[in-house]
Amino acid sequence: MSEMLIDVRNLSITIDTFRGPLQVVRNQDIVLHSGEVLGIVGESGCGKSVMVSSLMGLLPKKQANIKAERFTIGGKDCLGFDESHWNELRGTTIAMVFQDPMTSLNPILTIGEQIYEVIHRSHAYGKEYDARKIALDILTKMGLSSPERRLIQYPHELSGGMRQRVCIAMALAGRPNILICDEPTTALDITTEAQILRLLQDLAVELGIGIIFISHNLRIVAQLCDRVMVMYAGKCVESATVEDIFNNPRHPYTMGLLMSLPQEKWHGELKAIEGQPPDLYELPRGCSFTPRCKWAMRICGKQIPMISTVGNHHEYTCWLAKLEGL
Ligand SMILES: Nc1ncnc2c1ncn2[C@@H]1O[C@H](COP(=O)(O)OP(=O)(O)OP(=O)(O)O)[C@@H](O)[C@H]1O
Ligand code: SF4
Ligand SMILES: [Mg+2]
Repeated sequence: MSEMLIDVRNLSITIDTFRGPLQVVRNQDIVLHSGEVLGIVGESGCGKSVMVSSLMGLLPKKQANIKAERFTIGGKDCLGFDESHWNELRGTTIAMVFQDPMTSLNPILTIGEQIYEVIHRSHAYGKEYDARKIALDILTKMGLSSPERRLIQYPHELSGGMRQRVCIAMALAGRPNILICDEPTTALDITTEAQILRLLQDLAVELGIGIIFISHNLRIVAQLCDRVMVMYAGKCVESATVEDIFNNPRHPYTMGLLMSLPQEKWHGELKAIEGQPPDLYELPRGCSFTPRCKWAMRICGKQIPMISTVGNHHEYTCWLAKLEGL
């Protein structure tokens, strides 16, 4: 049976800014099981990176105020964690791959030195282990050619695609059971992107790790993910299996995102969602999507819709559900 790796309920994150407190994530649940790939999509600025950074303990303590009813990662309640606790968890239970590989790689250390450090910090290998052999095995698994040579190279000597594979290798070297990927392939060419995505899919199946995959590319999400969360203005507006999101979307924002995908039948014309995401400092009352929604009703601008559930844990927050008797 699959294990619950992340169980976060009613998460809210407020960031202190020069304009005052900004609520970036609002009343959000995040649940991830072993072997599952959870996709998170949503327009720029909707809070995806801030939300996953909180799961890694990466938000600055002085600036970010995190509240949650439950905040359990790998079975541990992490809400009151100090930096030493997070250091224990990061890399060994939960690891992250960023969009720009150079963010995670140290330019003055060789690839080998950086991977060995992760292996030494991990408790997964016991007392006796051969770090070089482990590193070589992981680099080979990541599909890097000449892995022996890579160990003695510096990050700047590798291409962007190679660096991203190294980052995934480093993330996996600590044998975490949760891997967060924040737009890991955006900067890569299509072929390398496809290879890395296949790798991630294999990892979820073979190693049973849970993966959170953030992307703007809905086609990739459709291929890779089991479940999808659609975020808008700091909140999940729809969450369902990948099949339900793509074949039976319920929330007008999700429908708009799907309509904005290039479609042959529209002869290349893109149907973008009109308008802009709201300023988080001045969220509309009621449903945040009201100013852009063509189905908006009077109640939408007044009251926040409740969560409605249909079928297989398909959840969405929209007043239209009430018209359907849900
Ligand atoms: N340190 C910070 N100080 C002030 N505002 C911040 C800070 N970090 C994030 N924000 C704000 O929080 C909101 C969410 O940002 P976040 O980076 O999570 O968006 P995102 O969904 O990951 O966007 P993208 O798709 O562009 O990566 C944005 O409005 C951003 O301006
Ligand atoms: S609650 Fe109203 S405004 Fe919001 S998405 Fe649904 S119909 Fe549109
Ligand atoms: Mg982001």
